[in-house]
Formats: sequence, C-alpha cells, structure tokens
Amino acid sequence: MSVQHSYAQKRMAASEAVRLVRDGDLIIVPTGVGEPPALLGALSEQRHSFHDVKVAQILAMRKYGYIDPQTVAHVRHVALFYGGATRAGGQAGWIDFIPNYFSEIPSLIQRQQMPADVVFSMASPMDAHGYFSLSLGADYTMAAVAKARVVVLEVNPQVPFANGNCHVHISQVAAVVEDSQPVMEVGLPKIGPVQQAIGRYVADMIEDGSTLQIGYGGIPDAVVMQLTGKKDLGIHTEMIGDGILSLVQAGVVTNRRKNYLPGKMVATFALGSASLYQFMDHNPALEIHPVDFTNTPSLAGLNDNLVAINATLQIDLLGQCGSESLGHLPFSGTGGQADFVRAANISRGGKAFIVLPSTAKDDTISRIVPVLSPGTHVSTSKNDINYVVTEFGVAQLRGKSAKQRARELIGIAHPNFRAELTDQAARMGLGA
Ligand code: COA
Repeated sequence: MSVQHSYAQKRMAASEAVRLVRDGDLIIVPTGVGEPPALLGALSEQRHSFHDVKVAQILAMRKYGYIDPQTVAHVRHVALFYGGATRAGGQAGWIDFIPNYFSEIPSLIQRQQMPADVVFSMASPMDAHGYFSLSLGADYTMAAVAKARVVVLEVNPQVPFANGNCHVHISQVAAVVEDSQPVMEVGLPKIGPVQQAIGRYVADMIEDGSTLQIGYGGIPDAVVMQLTGKKDLGIHTEMIGDGILSLVQAGVVTNRRKNYLPGKMVATFALGSASLYQFMDHNPALEIHPVDFTNTPSLAGLNDNLVAINATLQIDLLGQCGSESLGHLPFSGTGGQADFVRAANISRGGKAFIVLPSTAKDDTISRIVPVLSPGTHVSTSKNDINYVVTEFGVAQLRGKSAKQRARELIGIAHPNFRAELTDQAARMGLGA
C-alpha cells in the first residue's frame, strides 16, 4: 500500500480519533506548542465519557476544557512542568506532577516507570516517503511513539518539517487528524533594566566560538540580546526561540566552531513566532532531536565551551537553587536546568550560569536567603552550581567552601539585605 493510501485510510476527525483512547490510559503530549489543539479540544468535549484518563506534558500552553477540577475523575492533567495553564491547579492540589530531569523522561518511558499508552502530537505534513516531522517537540514524544499503543498526529501545514531524529512514519501512526490553525506564537518576555544588567555581566563572560544553551525567562533572553557583538557562536540547547533566531539573522550564530555536530544547531523543542517556525522548515543548519540526546549531560558536555544560562527564583548561601517552586507551592519544574548546569561543568571550557534578580516584590524580598523557604523544591544542587549572577555582579562558587560561598553570594545580594544576611550567615557558622 502506498504511503498516501495509508494516510487516506488513517485520516479522521478529531472527535473520532479521541475514541481510540481507553479508560485508564496515559496520553503523552509534547512540550509547549507541540500540543495538538484540535485533539485536546475534542478530548475536552468528550471528557465525561472517559474514566481515569491522564494527560502528561511539559508546559501546557492552553487551558483546555479538560483542565478542570470538576472532571478530574474523567480526564486529568499530570504536569511534568507547570506553566500558566496549569500552575493554579498544581498549587491548589488538583493537578499532580511527576518530578523529573527533562533528559530522563524518555528513559522513564522506556523503563515503563511512566506509562505512555497514547501519543497526541502536532506534526508537519507527511513527506513523499511517509514521514512526519515532530519539529515543535521531539523531546520525550519520540520515546513515547516507540512505546504507545496508539499514536495520533494532528497534521498542520504550518508545522515546519525539521531535520533530526524527530520523524515518525505513517506505519507507526493509528490516526491522522488534519487542522490548519496557525501554530501558537509565544513572544519574548518583558526585559527591564535589572534583567539587562544581569545580561551584560553574563554576555561579558561569553567568549567568541562558545556554544550556548539558553533557558526560559526574561534574563536568558536579556543575555541573548547583548550578544550581537560576538562571533561564531554555536547552539546546543533545549528550546529554540526567537532570541536565537535573531542571533542567526545577525550572523552571530554560525555553528562553525562547534566541535560536536559542527555546522548544526541542536534543540529538542521550539517556542516562538511564525518566523521561527518558517526558519525551521527543511533548514539544513538545524536539527530537532529527542531530549535524551540534547540534554543528557554527558552528551551535551561533549561541546567544548558550552555556556548554560538558566534562571532561578531563590538561592541559599550554599548555592542550592529553588528554581521551580515558591516554598512548597509549585511554580514550574526542573526542566533542563540541572541537565545543562551539569553539562556545562563537564564541557571543556564550559560555564554554567544561574541568573536571578537580587530581590522580588519591589525590593521587599531578598532572593538570596540564608535557608530556602520551607518546602522549596531544589532544582540545582550545591554540588553543581557554579556562576551565580544578579544585577550586582557575579559569584563563582564551584570549588569554594561553604563560608566562601556565603561571602560571594552576600556580595551580589541587594545592598539593603547584605547586613542582615551577614548576621544570619555568622549565626549559621558561615561567617568569615
Ligand atoms: N519570593 C517571592 N516571589 C518571588 C520570588 C521569591 N523568592 N522569586 C520570584 N518571585 C516571583 C516574582 O516576583 C515573579 O512574580 P510576578 O510575575 O508577579 O512579578 C514570579 O515569581 C516569577 O519570577 P521571575 O524571576 O520573573 O521568573 P521568570 O518568569 O523569569 O522565570 C523561572 C524564572 C525560574 C521560573 C524559570 O526560569 C524556570 O522555571 N526555571 C527552571 C527550569 C529551567 O531553568 N529550565 C531551563 C532549561 S531550558
């Protein structure tokens, strides 16, 4: 049977494809805008007819009808990372989460520690050989495709066909649903003077020829904006966004000096504008790979001069980072932060940066604290942390003692809090 014939046989409405789900199934959905809106919309409409179905995803983008505390017995969300659509449910307790390193989610699926009964994913149109590209999120979805009983692709002509290990053949697919609404666009976060000051410190420490991983949040993007004077940067990252696109367009990213996969940008998911998605289409300079390839520290660390830039919410005087919760209340997830901090530590010439404004809530709260708030989820450990940057400077912690760390971190705290932090450090035995 030709691939076109097979496609025609598998094509159906979203409302019909959703009926391939069985009670008790766990549905895997890719990161961010790789989520299929027609399928998740149809699942939401039919949710009352299911029992104990779960949808697991990193970073849900839209608040679908199924994300509803009243109907969790039918269909419920399980967060691998909280975002705006799911955070309130996580904080109220009716959305549960699975702690993870992003790099290890494929292995949780392969080892059956996490089920993957069904995959619902956005995909590019099929090529002449019968392949679709999961360009918006290869992440853990490729591992789930290999395990799932049912794979349903929502094919959309606006999804780019990217290169890399992100291709699924029609023979692996149970159903194809067609949709053509524009892929969701995500703008760059707001960047203020504090973010810019932090970005400047980091940018000054990035050498020409380095390979970058850029994390989420305003500060990583502020760093990107200050790299326009650099030369021959490379990209080996988790998320490709518009910041990286602007560096490519400015001729700053060439990937020519990468020692690992030279000439290629590597990422596992995309989040940006329509221009980014167009740029990804059949672009030989870009590869989208599963997250166990992009993020596993021993692989990402093969890039010499790997610079990892990630944000945190709170840090204690030992350098333990609470990047994903405010006390016990979940805020986001570990994502690739710990993966890339460790990768940069492995990389020859690598630098791992953790960035944060020194305060929150109009300078009323220091984000550098003697001890983390009770219940804080630690994302980057004291054993991995290296450079910490606020708008007041750079602390270098790796290889430093507990007392030296306390001194370094107090030195980049907001001046209003330095005396109090110094007192508390002394009481904890971390004084000079
Ligand atoms: N106490 C109270 N509130 C705090 C706080 C603290 N210690 N720290 C931050 N906040 C508040 C901020 O004021 C802000 O609130 P607002 O939106 O009302 O202004 C909110 O929490 C978010 O803080 P902000 O610094 O703006 O975060 P961000 O949007 O830049 O995102 C992370 C930063 C840490 C949430 C995000 O980077 C993350 O999830 N990191 C972990 C995962 C990761 O790094 N992945 C990258 C791999 S690609």
